[in-house]
Order: sequence, then C-alpha cells, then structure tokens
Amino acid sequence: MSAQTLPGAPVEIDIFDEIDELRRSRNAVILAHYYQDPDIQDLADHIGDSLQLAKAARDTDADVILFCGVHFMAETAKILNPDRIVLIPDMKAGCSLADAAPAKRVAKWKADHPGAALVSYINCSAGVKALSDVICTSSNAVRVIESIPADQQILFCPDKNLGRWLIQQTGRDMELWPGSCIVHETFSEEKLVGLKIRHPDAKVICHPECEPNLLRYADHIGSTSSLLKYATTTQDATTFIVGTEPGILHQMEKAAPDRTFLPLPGMDETCACNECPHMRRNTLEKIRDALRDLQPRIEMPEDLRLASLAPLQRMMDLG
Ligand code: 13P
Ligand code: SF4
Repeated sequence: MSAQTLPGAPVEIDIFDEIDELRRSRNAVILAHYYQDPDIQDLADHIGDSLQLAKAARDTDADVILFCGVHFMAETAKILNPDRIVLIPDMKAGCSLADAAPAKRVAKWKADHPGAALVSYINCSAGVKALSDVICTSSNAVRVIESIPADQQILFCPDKNLGRWLIQQTGRDMELWPGSCIVHETFSEEKLVGLKIRHPDAKVICHPECEPNLLRYADHIGSTSSLLKYATTTQDATTFIVGTEPGILHQMEKAAPDRTFLPLPGMDETCACNECPHMRRNTLEKIRDALRDLQPRIEMPEDLRLASLAPLQRMMDLG
C-alpha cells in the first residue's frame, strides 16, 4: 500500500516503497541469498548462491551494495569491489562455519603442515581467506580441489562435511578442519526416512554441508543453485525432500508451482532449527535503515583485503 492521502487519516508509508525510493536515491543494488525471507528475495535485484552473489558484487557499478546474507558474504563483496560502499542489514549475521575457524588457529594448523595447500570454503573470515591458497564455494569445490597438484597435501577448512564429500568426489586425501554448519547438522535421519516412506517417489536433494548419514540418501547433492535447478527441471520426479535451509523453497515453488517440495525438519520439533538464525536476522526494517543511514558498513584494512583477494581471484580464474 502506498502513502495515504485522505484528510485526517494517519500517514502510512509502505516499507517496500521506502526501500525502493532509497535504493534509487542511493544508486544501490540489493543482493540476497536463497536463505533470506521470501519478502527479501522478492525485492532483491539479484538472488543466488555464494558464488553467483560474489560475481554480482564484483561486477556491479552501483555506488552501494546492500548484501542480504551473512557477514562472510558481505565481506567477500567488499574484498572484490573495494570502491563501493558495502552494507549488511545486521552486522551480527554471522555463520557457525566462519566462527569455527579463528584465523590464529588456522595459521598454526597451516604452519604445522609446511608445503600443504590450504583450501578454504568461502564460509570463513577474511583473515582465514588471507592465509589460504585458494577459496571454493559448494558450486566449484570439486574443480578447485582437482586443480591442486596430485602430489601436494591438502588442508580443507572449515567444513568437515563438505570436506568428506569432496574426498569421495575427487578421491583426494585431505586433512579436515572440524567445523560444521549448525543448520545442516540439525537435520534428522529418522524424519528423512519417515518422509521417504510416505513419499516413496520423492527424490532427496541435499546440500553438501549435511552430515554423511543424510547424504547417503541423496539423489542429488549440490549448492543451493544446483538444488534449485535440479528440483525444478528434472523429469525424474515431481516431489522433492529438501535437505537444506528452507528459504530456498520460495524460489523452487515460484519456478515450479506444480511440484511439491518438502523441507527436511530438524531433530527437535519444537524449534525452527532448520532455519539459519544468522540469515534470518535480516529484516525489511533493517534493510530500509541500512539504505537510509549507509550503515552497518563493511570495512577492512587494505593489506587484509589484498591478501584475501589473491585466493579468491585464483578461484574466479578457475572459471
Ligand atoms: P551456497 O553457496 O550453496 O548458496 O551455500 C551457502 C551456505 O551458506 C550454505 O549454508
Ligand atoms: Fe553458515 Fe550454516 Fe547459516 Fe549457511 S546455513 S550461513 S553455513 S550457519
């Protein structure tokens, strides 16, 4: 609803109109990850997985990038596009994987393995990126691992579940950092089996951050964009059990309204613990306020930015 003009009526400003007006006046681009609330996905200029959003941030000529995602994603946008103002609606929107790998401890791990290549999942801090030889996302991780010379040891950080899956996919032995995603580790095998019994024709699709006991059931494993593509285009099924954060269902349902998407629940029925509490910190009000105030803003020392850019650039150069 737009601003009311009836005499005596209270003035109501529609928050979507406010955001649009601020986006125009600030010459801002709004990027949103698939795990954001549907309203946020719908107002974004670009939605995507980590890699697609990093590329959108790198390539934009907008003056302001408002990143509706978590901190490591907005930080990556700043590393790739330092001349823009990069905003995040809530500075506390972190990530359990990034938190599991403090740069000081990763530096010690690396020093204990001279000659090894450190490959870091993009879900890490700029400090960890700066220590890394190359970065990967769940979309390109297999290709990145395959680019490491066969005789070089690989340290993989911080997601042990993605790491284990990559060992299976590539046949490469890797030493794994013991991090995990609080959301993907909450999915219940028992509930998955229950859903499969009730929907025997359904295909199971999982993000590689899921634990190995869940991945055993998966018909398709991939990044959020890969899950979206498979679930909306395969001719092999019309019902899907979705083993990732349920925010992705919004795009699945929009793209294929005649298909059924069943979110995998967590072990505890009493909480929405299959939703990422960090991603869900972002709200329409915080988006409006960030565009209005040009805060909270991602900043970092230039030497850290340049050191973390090099392994990101190596990833981008792999195509
Ligand atoms: P994607 O790159 O597959 O979107 O993954 C991001 C993420 O944080 C998954 O939990
Ligand atoms: Fe991090 Fe997990 Fe949230 Fe993704 S879903 S941002 S990995 S905590």
